[in-house]
Amino acid sequence: MTAPVVAAVVPAAGLGQRLGADGPKAMHLLGGEPMLVHSVRTLAAGPVDLVVVATPPGLGAEVLAQLAGAHPGAELSVVDGGATRSDSVRLALAALPPSVRVVLVHDAARPLVPAALVAAVVAAVEGGADAVVPGLPVTDTVKQVDGADVVVATVDRSALRAVQTPQGFRREVLDTAYAGPESGTATDDAGHVERAGGVVVVVPGAEEAFKVTRPLDLVLAEAVLAGRRQAGG
Ligand code: CTP
Ligand code: MG
Repeated sequence: MTAPVVAAVVPAAGLGQRLGADGPKAMHLLGGEPMLVHSVRTLAAGPVDLVVVATPPGLGAEVLAQLAGAHPGAELSVVDGGATRSDSVRLALAALPPSVRVVLVHDAARPLVPAALVAAVVAAVEGGADAVVPGLPVTDTVKQVDGADVVVATVDRSALRAVQTPQGFRREVLDTAYAGPESGTATDDAGHVERAGGVVVVVPGAEEAFKVTRPLDLVLAEAVLAGRRQAGG
């Protein structure tokens, strides 16, 4: 196998507290398989040469066993994740070999991401962008409130995007952004790049790239997967 050029980092070390499941969310079953397996399978089937999963500490061997056979087109490795999502991503980035030039970061908790979205994000980075995020227009009206929950303003939602993963980066850009001091406020990877002064572009996201966060998201995910299986996908 040639040295990997496009890598995907998959933070999968979260507890899934909002889902309320017992055990790590990435290992929660969707259509009979852990969510993480769905995510890795889609990444590996596309233009990704190497997948590095940040696992709940101590679960690396179990995760490797679960993922056997799910990454035919890509190498796979695991690292212990950290206390926060940023820590988990940072630890996985440190495990990338020097040959890697393009890095995707993809939440294990977005198991139904379409392959076409993965390919579009990689293509945008290979086309010259430093940092790329998939985003969708916001459909709810968004209010800004003060400390007493009194509305201060209604935000112009036409200028807002709800962003997803995979987010894609030139490797140096993401390494540099994560090497900076921890801000504590960045809830995605592009946030670190923005804080470091980098330019982040948005490409069209996909509804099916939604994150499984609360129990209702799992109901939707099961329904989407059942529909795909019925359609032979
Ligand atoms: N994640 C991680 N390491 C952490 C926290 C989160 O790798 N210390 C990962 C999760 O496994 C998930 C992704 O980051 O794939 C997005 O995080 P989120 O949806 O918040 O998942 P959890 O942190 O598991 O859920 P919750 O916040 O409800 O506990
Ligand atoms: Mg979380």
